[in-house]
Amino acid sequence: MTNRTITRVLARRVWDSRGRPTVEAEVHLSSGVTGRAIAPAGASRGTREAIDLRDGGSRFGGMDVMRAVAGVNGAINARLIGLDAGDQAAVDAALVALDGTSNKATLGGNATVAVSLACLHAAAQGPVWQHVAQLYGATPTLPLPEIQIFGGGAHAGRRVDIQDFMVMVPGAGTMAEVFEVTAGIYVAAGSILAEKGLLRGVADEGGWWPEFTSNEEALDFLIRAIERAGEVPGDRVVISLDVAASEFGHGGQYRLALDDRTMDSAGMAERLGQWLDRYPIASIEDPLAEDDLPGLAAFTREYGDRVQIIGDDALVTNAALVRQAAAAGACNAMLLKVNQIGTVTEAVAAWRAAANAGWPSVVSARSGETEDTSIVDLCVGLGAGQLKVGSFARSERMAKWNACIRVEDTNPDLRFVGGEPLAKTWWGRKARD
Ligand code: PGA
Ligand code: ZN
Repeated sequence: MTNRTITRVLARRVWDSRGRPTVEAEVHLSSGVTGRAIAPAGASRGTREAIDLRDGGSRFGGMDVMRAVAGVNGAINARLIGLDAGDQAAVDAALVALDGTSNKATLGGNATVAVSLACLHAAAQGPVWQHVAQLYGATPTLPLPEIQIFGGGAHAGRRVDIQDFMVMVPGAGTMAEVFEVTAGIYVAAGSILAEKGLLRGVADEGGWWPEFTSNEEALDFLIRAIERAGEVPGDRVVISLDVAASEFGHGGQYRLALDDRTMDSAGMAERLGQWLDRYPIASIEDPLAEDDLPGLAAFTREYGDRVQIIGDDALVTNAALVRQAAAAGACNAMLLKVNQIGTVTEAVAAWRAAANAGWPSVVSARSGETEDTSIVDLCVGLGAGQLKVGSFARSERMAKWNACIRVEDTNPDLRFVGGEPLAKTWWGRKARD
């Protein structure tokens, strides 16, 4: 028995940022060290994601997780005792084998992700991001944040069809500077909405929940907020969108309810293309639906040399799906959400598949989050380069941004990547000129 031998794995039910049950896991080692992590939960989920195991029935709207918790305390505990927590691949392989399905349907991706991340924490003998870097032979860096200003789609009563209206500050020299600039834009956006009587509240990820009359109006207000914060849109600050098109696009038909428009795949791409022409958008996620790989490929052919095109629902952090999309020429970047696949090892495999395709990755939180900051460790440790955790409000979001500040503040040698991930976009070309 080494001092990193697993002696016990346990779980309990805790609660997420939407007041819903979720799984917290602990991995205990022979040394007396304990690692802990909490599973997040999505609302605009890809259909090929790992199963989020819920109890069903009437309790908490069917969302309880006592079956997933029982699986950790029972079968997972029995299987992992005696394994070396430092061998993340072996621990994750044991979880995958014990589950026995392709989508974690037996144990639940919520159970496996909590255990897998807890193992990472238990095995780290210092900062977790350093352990990640060592495990995967990566060079740690401080990422470029992608921060939501307005929330829409499934996170805000579908009032606006587009899910995330975000900003990035690729022209900043430090993460601290990114947050200073973003704080100004966030507050300005809220004030402008309040003045116009358009403020409904705050959406699931902390962004403002506006009462706009068209999707484009959201972009216009975002430009105004950037300007009121004293910035020139497209200069130091750029816009980033998560269209989350799988939420309103099916079978090649896209319905923008707010704009009262139904379009085919080419029509939807054209509409987005008009926005790319009019607004300083440097990154766009899920511009077309997960069931429209040809549409995503056509969009990437048309616009891939000017914007980052991130695949979320179409890729679901799955190495095989990333390779398939890359072969089809669909997307040019990957969103990395560990709970979409269910273990750290498999998420890293997807990240490698993306890197092999020449794609940058964006490590991402879910709309249902907690104080858990494991994704910051993964993002920094892998040197993934971009981090998306929602808005600039509410502590399940700020826990991540503040963790970034802490890492930056205590590690002056860590490099902030700034605008590098956007090098192949119009912004990158402009920055080089
Ligand atoms: P979700 O959405 O966490 O609600 O699935 C986040 C995203 O689409 O990026
Ligand atoms: Zn998304």
